Amino acid sequence: MKILVLGSGAREHAIILALRAEKAGHEIFVSPGNAGIARDATPVTVDVLDGGAVTAFANEHAIDLVVIGPEAPLVAGVADALRERGIPVFGPGRAAAQLEGSKSFAKRVMDAAGVPTGRAVRASTTAEVESAFDELGAPHVVKADGLAAGKGVIVTSDRAEAVAHAEHFLPAGPVLIEEFLAGPEVSLFFLSDGDTVRALSPAQDFKRALDGDAGPNTGGMGAYSPLPWLADRFGSEQAFVEEVTRDVALPVIRQLEAEGTPFIGLLYAGLILTPAGVRVIEFNARFGDPETQVVLPRLETPLSDLLFAAASGTLEDQPDPVFSDDVAITVVLASEGYPEAPKTGRPIEGLDDAESVEGVRIVHAATAGPDAPGGSLLATGGRVLNVVAAASDFVTARERAYDAIGRITLEGSHFRTDIAARVAK
Ligand code: AMP
Ligand code: GLY
Repeated sequence: MKILVLGSGAREHAIILALRAEKAGHEIFVSPGNAGIARDATPVTVDVLDGGAVTAFANEHAIDLVVIGPEAPLVAGVADALRERGIPVFGPGRAAAQLEGSKSFAKRVMDAAGVPTGRAVRASTTAEVESAFDELGAPHVVKADGLAAGKGVIVTSDRAEAVAHAEHFLPAGPVLIEEFLAGPEVSLFFLSDGDTVRALSPAQDFKRALDGDAGPNTGGMGAYSPLPWLADRFGSEQAFVEEVTRDVALPVIRQLEAEGTPFIGLLYAGLILTPAGVRVIEFNARFGDPETQVVLPRLETPLSDLLFAAASGTLEDQPDPVFSDDVAITVVLASEGYPEAPKTGRPIEGLDDAESVEGVRIVHAATAGPDAPGGSLLATGGRVLNVVAAASDFVTARERAYDAIGRITLEGSHFRTDIAARVAK
């Protein structure tokens, strides 16, 4: 197939590596990509937020499938433009992408579909925020309504800090004050063709910047898959996946279909397993980052078959995706100052050495260059690289990942040392 992937991060690199690992052999284009992705796909220059431009490129190059990585092109309606012209595209249209783009839209759909989620109150003024805090109690959860790249949410017992966070976003519109939900978090991805869903294997993401879940929220500092502890609570991973498919994914997909805005693409369910049961904390309308980097290396079913079937409404003809029993972990290497104020433009060394560690792949999140022959690769963003390690067990996967990341030099960079530590005992 000729496949065009939109996006520039480690998630898109992981998608491209999974497509390249297939026997079928695809011709893969990417816009804009990054220095690492450019080794695995052909970079092209197309404005990823311009549906007309993406459609023109796809037509001109006889693209069989467009895969939209990040949320911004989805919310901008790029999938709608492609679908109108009959081009198979993996990614929801603007209306269904509101599931991620608007927290209040997501709450409305969940209410209509009877999906279990935390109680939430919309607040438009400081007084309404304060009264919602009184009603729901501490810790306080405040969510900005639109896309905020992981910075819109605060969870804190410090009421003054919670009020200040709400007041920061209030000028732009109402905020959601949500009931605090306690328990382990799980990311579960569903492929959807609008009425049929297929679940992928669960993963867990480490959102805080520092070891022990300290420090600020980030886009994600690491992940692992599968989650062996799900079996203790649900009997098996399969039983958990079936429950969430029945109680969360299918009701939401059916609701959006009934509203005339079918969800075609990846439904990301961000879940908290509370003592009272599974609750949705958020939906995303695209693959999670960095969870994708540990889920896709374990996928044995050809990814392109699944994405194409979802894009063309034939997912019911596809068997459930098959996953390897091997485990995968990823550790994110971040620039000095991430997430507040990352220092970028610094050289990265040691990648070949890192990638020589057995079972390790280096997935690029934000890299450029080298500008000259013999020059260095440069870090261009907050999250720079993902070291992904596969092994038959978590102890070995962790040894491999941390051995590899220790071989990489990037001045001032940092990473968490406790990714998947709890499951490696
Ligand atoms: P979100 O951007 O909605 O994924 O939220 C970011 C992080 O905040 C989540 O991964 C959770 O760790 C935390 N969070 C969000 N909502 C809640 C909630 N209602 N209760 C507890 N933690 C939450
Ligand atoms: N890993 C969190 C996200 O992709 O939103």
